[in-house]
Amino acid sequence: MQERSTILVVDDEEQMRSAMEAVLARMGHSVIKAVNGSDALEKLEQSKVDVVISDMKMPVMTGGELLAQIKENHPGIPTVMITAYGTIEQAVEVMKDGAFDFVTKPFSAEDLEGVISRATSKGRKIPTKKASSISQDAVAIVTGDPTFKRVLEIAVSVASSSASVLVQGESGTGKELIARLLHTSGKQDNEPFVAVNCAALPENLLESELFGHEKGAFTGATATKIGKFEQANGGTILLDEISEMELPLQAKLLRVLQEREVDRIGGTKPIPVDVRVVATTNRDIRQTVAKGDFREDLYYRLNVIPLYVPSLRERKGDIKLLLEYFIRRFSNGAAKKITDAQLKKLEDYAWPGNVRELQNACQRAVLLAQDGDLQAEHFLLGAIDSTQESEGDDSLRLRSGLSVAEAEKRLILETLRVTNNNKTKAAELLGISIRTLRNKLHEYDAPR
Ligand SMILES: Nc1ncnc2c1ncn2[C@@H]1O[C@H](COP(=O)(O)OP(=O)(O)OP(=O)(O)O)[C@@H](O)[C@H]1O
Ligand SMILES: [Mg+2]
Repeated sequence: MQERSTILVVDDEEQMRSAMEAVLARMGHSVIKAVNGSDALEKLEQSKVDVVISDMKMPVMTGGELLAQIKENHPGIPTVMITAYGTIEQAVEVMKDGAFDFVTKPFSAEDLEGVISRATSKGRKIPTKKASSISQDAVAIVTGDPTFKRVLEIAVSVASSSASVLVQGESGTGKELIARLLHTSGKQDNEPFVAVNCAALPENLLESELFGHEKGAFTGATATKIGKFEQANGGTILLDEISEMELPLQAKLLRVLQEREVDRIGGTKPIPVDVRVVATTNRDIRQTVAKGDFREDLYYRLNVIPLYVPSLRERKGDIKLLLEYFIRRFSNGAAKKITDAQLKKLEDYAWPGNVRELQNACQRAVLLAQDGDLQAEHFLLGAIDSTQESEGDDSLRLRSGLSVAEAEKRLILETLRVTNNNKTKAAELLGISIRTLRNKLHEYDAPR
């Protein structure tokens, strides 16, 4: 049972005030109401208040001004702000200004209950980190790009909120890094971070992976299994490639997000969970919604805070920074330089696999250069498309004029030479499976 707290509700609309009062009273709290900012400040002087919830848009004194006054005169009282849907900037501002959390209009009774119970029970977890202190150590995100920096700033400033975040961007742009940044900037070290790839498992397995199952729930369920949501309790769950989730499971996920409780498969009672959800997709999810393959209501639930990660093509300036960073990392600090001409070549390349591709290219280049200088051909741009176990698509031509198949063969043989024929190591460096490596060697009629 939660303790009874006193909540000050601040809104200029009578209907909103009484609706919130009804929900909060049902939770067992006592409610004080104020019709505007200055009324709220008076009530704060008169009575002991545990939590304030206030609308942003009010005549006389805005919610932002009220928040500033509360921070100044009653810094210990967690304050939840009500922001309008689609005004991400506003949400970010209130978090920066020290709000405990925010809810976006329109919100449900469950949303209100969720945010108030966090503010009253866990409570007083006032964010201490400022937007400017993006930790370069915990999660190294290398960028000098203003647009991307802004995205990181927003991520850090909303990190302590529990609002869902949808990170969109092409493959390999750093979406998972952002999810980790959200976690490390907002949560304590001992709180869990759990990642689930929604594209990796068929629907029924994904369901039990996410929500768990009881022993005997289905054939093969020989023991009770704790789902990822329960494992992530108190922390963050990363739902990778969310757009790949099937519709029936989407409905179940929506319920979990609304009710903040999970049903284990075969379970008899729901289990409450307090989890921050970060979802990612490399598809245009609005298009998936338009086609009817993704529930619109779930999309809105997940997309409270939208973050867009620009592709590497859209931040060409980062190519130089990332090259320097990865080359230093993979050559153990040895000073390997690239010439301006080489850099130009690398900057002109399209990087369809974004930072991941660049990282792999650097790793191979350092390996192939051995103790010598780095040459442009060591990067073998586009030589290996690790997303596709290609048979060598002749339409893809290397800039050097080598066919993909030829370049691939050279790279594979060279990598094997450098690794002293260690196939496991070579496959790992090349970013392909051992099986693919063996098949390639079979093709080349090389020793397997
Ligand atoms: N700005 C960056 N600085 C340093 N490393 C980065 C940066 N962006 C991405 N990386 C690295 O590139 C790789 C791919 O990043 P990540 O896994 O976050 O991408 P993603 O967008 O989740 O990709 P996918 O869509 O394929 O899941 C990781 O090894 C990550 O550490
Ligand atoms: Mg990812």
